[in-house]
Amino acid sequence: MSQRHTTLGSYPTTRMRRNRRSDWSRRLVAETKLSVDDLIWPVFVQEGSNSRTPVASMPGVDRLSVDLFVEALKQARDLGIPAVAIFPEVDAAKKTSDAREAYNPDNLVCRAIRAAKKSVPGIGIVCDVALDPFNADGHDGIVRDGEILNDESIEVMTRQALVQSEAGCDVQAPSDMMDGRIGAFRKAMDAAGYQHVQIMSYAAKYASAFYNPFRDAIGSSGALKGDKKTYQMDPANSDEALREVGHDIAEGADMVMVKPGLPYLDIVRRVKDAFGVPTYAYQVSGEYAMLRGAADRGWLDWEKVLLETLSCFKRAGCDGILTYGAVDAARLLRGK
Ligand code: PBG
Repeated sequence: MSQRHTTLGSYPTTRMRRNRRSDWSRRLVAETKLSVDDLIWPVFVQEGSNSRTPVASMPGVDRLSVDLFVEALKQARDLGIPAVAIFPEVDAAKKTSDAREAYNPDNLVCRAIRAAKKSVPGIGIVCDVALDPFNADGHDGIVRDGEILNDESIEVMTRQALVQSEAGCDVQAPSDMMDGRIGAFRKAMDAAGYQHVQIMSYAAKYASAFYNPFRDAIGSSGALKGDKKTYQMDPANSDEALREVGHDIAEGADMVMVKPGLPYLDIVRRVKDAFGVPTYAYQVSGEYAMLRGAADRGWLDWEKVLLETLSCFKRAGCDGILTYGAVDAARLLRGK
């Protein structure tokens, strides 16, 4: 950022309120602008057909069977939302300690990708790369004797990234926080002919208490033993986030993400200023639940807090935001 004097001019010759007097003037001086092009919509999918299940801790969010997911995609595309991110609720019977369902080419995620690509081409499909929906332990990696194994987890997730690429996934989004996974996925994907598939790395992902509603939605809360502090970052740290992001860019990440969102906007700003790469943040399930929960009680205005928080992400330096409010925001931004 350029050096600026914040005290240029003084009252009464300078009156800061003059530029704010009318709507046209406020629009003229606005420094950032939120648009539908900034939105990525995370969607939960489940088995079955023509079925939807409300997520209790996320009012207004339903898990969708693949056919209804495709219908929802059409709606998102028609609103101009560029991309959706798929998260599966995997049947408990398919969760094992080796998480092998993660690389079954016919797993729920791959079926959802194929259905999406067939019926709604033109909308970007982002897929999580992590083992927690498939792992009996609820951890993002393979667990042995209480330890989350790094390199073994990468081997399994590499196979996951390959089946997802084969099914037509546009963006692999590793949320697992193992060391070295971006480089491993890039190498394997390139060798298999998927040079065009992008990687959006969850580069600075914190061990946060704001993920609980998500874990309910994908059915991993009950399974999870312990916490994720040996791989996700300590919320106290900021310099460390820059090292994480630097490694992921060096290993081939096309885009980087900070997660959670609102309590971590200082990290977004540092990342954007330090690296200048496409930078995203995830307004996570707990953030959504806080806003919606309060709005449902009449304590907050949902539409206003949604647009305000999303604008704050832009101001902090985000090129885009993953938000469960993407469809509502797109409607509001389009005046529909
Ligand atoms: C796990 C994953 C999580 C989220 C996205 N991918 C949860 C976790 O790390 O336990 C959280 C998203 C949200 O809370 O909305 N791979």
